[in-house]
Amino acid sequence: MDGYSQYRFDPTRLRTPCYVVDVGLLRGNLQILADVKAQTGCKILLALKCFAMHRLFPLLAETLDGVCASSPHEARLGFEEFGKEVHTFGAAYSQADMEDICRTSDHILFNSCAQLERFVPMIMAHAAGSGKKIELGIRINPEHSEGAVAMYDPCAPGSRLGIRREQLQEELLAQVRGLHWHNLCEQDADCLERTVRAVEERFGDLIPRMRYVNFGGGHHITRPGYDLARLVRVINSFKERWGVQVYLEPGEAVALNCGYLVSTVLDLTKADMAIAIMDSSVPAHMPDVLEMPYRPHIIDSGGEGEKKYSYRIGGLSCLAGDVAGSYSFDRPLAVGDRLVFSDMAIYTMVKNNTFNGVGLPSIYLYEPEEDRYECVRSFGYEDFKNRLS
Ligand SMILES: Cc1ncc(COP(=O)(O)O)c(C=O)c1O
Repeated sequence: MDGYSQYRFDPTRLRTPCYVVDVGLLRGNLQILADVKAQTGCKILLALKCFAMHRLFPLLAETLDGVCASSPHEARLGFEEFGKEVHTFGAAYSQADMEDICRTSDHILFNSCAQLERFVPMIMAHAAGSGKKIELGIRINPEHSEGAVAMYDPCAPGSRLGIRREQLQEELLAQVRGLHWHNLCEQDADCLERTVRAVEERFGDLIPRMRYVNFGGGHHITRPGYDLARLVRVINSFKERWGVQVYLEPGEAVALNCGYLVSTVLDLTKADMAIAIMDSSVPAHMPDVLEMPYRPHIIDSGGEGEKKYSYRIGGLSCLAGDVAGSYSFDRPLAVGDRLVFSDMAIYTMVKNNTFNGVGLPSIYLYEPEEDRYECVRSFGYEDFKNRLS
């Protein structure tokens, strides 16, 4: 079962809209990541920006080595709930951010030499005062794109992410022990292999000074067909050449194809084509569909006209573009039918919003071995009101 085409729970038993995370599928992904670790000795961090379901941190922490955080809040969540390494990177930090991050992070990564220079004394003073070991790293820009869409390509022209080689002030690197980059998005190990070559060409002379090198995220390791053997080769040969600890920090690969968004058909109308309106909202509950953009898969559906009954499926909000796409089904949809969108654990709960006052989906865990559902969280009016003033 690949999670694209199937689900194992009974969607009619769930109150919708809801996200459902299948713990059995998550264990499957973790096993693949554990194999990569065993074959390479690399460390793997969970990118919280993608999936931050802290209820599952104890399970994830059995395999993963910690988290990578993008903000003081994510760092605090990782520190308090994950209990392993916390690596924090921010495009820029304020003084208040840094005070927080010093408390919660054991690896702090900088996006510019100016910020590194500004905050080193504060971090050193904090470490000396608290006895906490804090390791410093820099994010570099390898200036090597692998064809990700510009929105998701930190090496695109004009990118503010990562220090370019010509901007690097080597005299500031005395305390720096980590080199980090991130340039991939849902990509395979051949893209990583070419990126590693580009990094070695531009930054190879710095690597011997480092304790670790972090290859970032965007490795689609748990996607069926991903070239695992090549990933293992790339990591092992890098380690042989440079003798450093390698880290990966995937988000998607951890919970890829492990979750669903279940919604219910509320109304069927007709415009210039048949329309179904569901009890969730695309911009509010699966914002990447509009941002990326992509057409999410609904299980048991086909493309428009592929099966006998076609519908344009849209959401609750007033946004004209609150539309998942056009789909077809073997039988006509009816009010009350469940629509199960696949691959909805990642970049959904961490990004959703209450635009139009639309309610947030509940969050369920599904334990397939016991055919057990648990509603971990549900949201109501207070959650909407509390973000407003
Ligand atoms: C710095 C960094 N690390 C890790 C990730 C996780 O990427 P993914 O979820 O594609 O693996 C991202 C995603 O944007 C990122 O910007």
